[in-house]
Amino acid sequence: MKKFIFACNFKMNVVDVEKYMEAMKDENYDNVIICPNFCDIREYTKLNKSNKVFIGAQNVSEFEKGAHTGEVSAEMLAKIGVQFCIVGHSERKKYNTETLIQTNEKVKRLIENNITPIICVGEELYSDPTKQEEYAVRYVLSELNEILKDIDINKVIIAYEPIWAIGSNNVASSQHIKTVLSAIKKYTNVEFTLYGGSFGEKNYEEIAMIDVVDGALIGGASLKPELICKMQKRVKELYE
Ligand code: PGA
Repeated sequence: MKKFIFACNFKMNVVDVEKYMEAMKDENYDNVIICPNFCDIREYTKLNKSNKVFIGAQNVSEFEKGAHTGEVSAEMLAKIGVQFCIVGHSERKKYNTETLIQTNEKVKRLIENNITPIICVGEELYSDPTKQEEYAVRYVLSELNEILKDIDINKVIIAYEPIWAIGSNNVASSQHIKTVLSAIKKYTNVEFTLYGGSFGEKNYEEIAMIDVVDGALIGGASLKPELICKMQKRVKELYE
């Protein structure tokens, strides 16, 4: 049976770790990845002793080790039980000037440390709305062309997040998601793809039914553990 991945990106929001894990205690969430801030990761791994969920990070250094003040290496993340890591998020590109070359290096460091990178790609709004889909495909494939240089495609997950859909309540249409993710799968041969951008209660059922979508990268809606539990339960039913 297909599994729909719920990758939860808490961003820089304050989340009560104990309350969150308490809400997830009744079942095994073998399709849920929780990506808190660096400071809280250990707390989550401690409370996740029976491995109900997977723990991820939101960023990693492109460097292996050494004089890089303020950075956290992939080796350090692996040591505390991190199994997934988001890289190249559009907010890092916008506010931290992360380049595609840096993202490519980050992906390499993660794979060297047996952490699965969740690689984010996505386009801005195009001047001609009738050409948005076409533009999106061109844009994300050119991003992936750089990011995936010398990378084993079997070791990564690709998340398509149109920038205009993130935190905007402006989710992409199913047709748009299908077109872009189909192109990504065809071009890269990647097995797992996620959709991200205002994914939540109003649209999760429809998105989960798109055949080329294997999961979601969720920001705002992931801050509510009850909602994650509800959505993942319902999607399991839909897949039965
Ligand atoms: P959102 O964020 O679900 O709040 O739109 C998604 C993301 O940025 O990963």
